[in-house]
Amino acid sequence: MNFEEYLQNNPIEVDTFHPFYQEALNYTLKGKAKRFRPQLLLSVVEAKNPLLLPSAMPIALALEMFHTYSLIHDDLPLMDDASLRRGRETLHKKYDELTAVLVGDALNTHAFYLISTAPLSSDVKVSLITLLSQAGGVEGMVNGQIIDCYFEKKQLSLEELKQLHLNKTAKLIAAALEMGGVIVNLPKQELEKLKDFGLKLGLLFQIQDDIIDEVWSDTKALKTTQADENKNSFVKLLGIEKAKESANSLAKELELELQHLDPQISQALQTLLKKYFYRHKGQ
Ligand code: IPE
Ligand code: IPE
Ligand code: MG
Ligand code: MG
Ligand code: MG
Repeated sequence: MNFEEYLQNNPIEVDTFHPFYQEALNYTLKGKAKRFRPQLLLSVVEAKNPLLLPSAMPIALALEMFHTYSLIHDDLPLMDDASLRRGRETLHKKYDELTAVLVGDALNTHAFYLISTAPLSSDVKVSLITLLSQAGGVEGMVNGQIIDCYFEKKQLSLEELKQLHLNKTAKLIAAALEMGGVIVNLPKQELEKLKDFGLKLGLLFQIQDDIIDEVWSDTKALKTTQADENKNSFVKLLGIEKAKESANSLAKELELELQHLDPQISQALQTLLKKYFYRHKGQ
């Protein structure tokens, strides 16, 4: 079963008499999404020990759930105020802000529930929880998001912008690779290499996202674009051409660095990443 099927076949179920809580929990999760982070995780598992794929599925789902929580909150009027996400209305437009805040909270918590109940050893699960909570929380995504919003209309230096992108996006992407590595019991040194590669990949991913905000329509991006006017983005700081140059050179570096990873992982990631390295070139 591929990940998309697994996700669509395993909705969150809840015993409630609330009229739309259950539907709201699954609404953004099931939209049209790339599933980039779960695919990174599963690529590492498939490359090193495909027998572990079924046990890795709930972990991949947890990661997607956590990421989806961050998007639901990111779209709220008091954050980025977006109306389209994953090809459909944002959750607070479909229902209301209260529902969006609480569904985000629930997805965040449920991600850790899924990890804690997965059919993996307790040691592995503790490491997975450590990785996700570090990358997603106090010194990760939340740190990035609070800087992103606080510094609207206040220009950051390029170094500060990189720190912002590393926190809000790259750490979770690196964690996706590392979590795959933990599931298949990779040695520490290989995990470190995956982390470094993932941080750079995550930086590229967010620079591309900044470019997409500028040049893609809502319909193509499946989300609200042209929304970064007051943000610190690569496009706002450097201009579109220099932002594209930065993305190109990071993509080139990554293509080379891919060759220094474990050969099986390198091959699996090559297959996955070929459509992502130059994503910013699509019109
Ligand atoms: C959007 O993430 C937010 C960023 C961190 C750039 P994705 O581009 O992975 O969005 P989905 O998951 O495909 O909807
Ligand atoms: C959001 O970055 C990163 C998250 C942690 C959710 P953006 O605000 O640029 O993401 P989009 O463009 O709304 O998807
Ligand atoms: Mg944002
Ligand atoms: Mg946003
Ligand atoms: Mg964006």
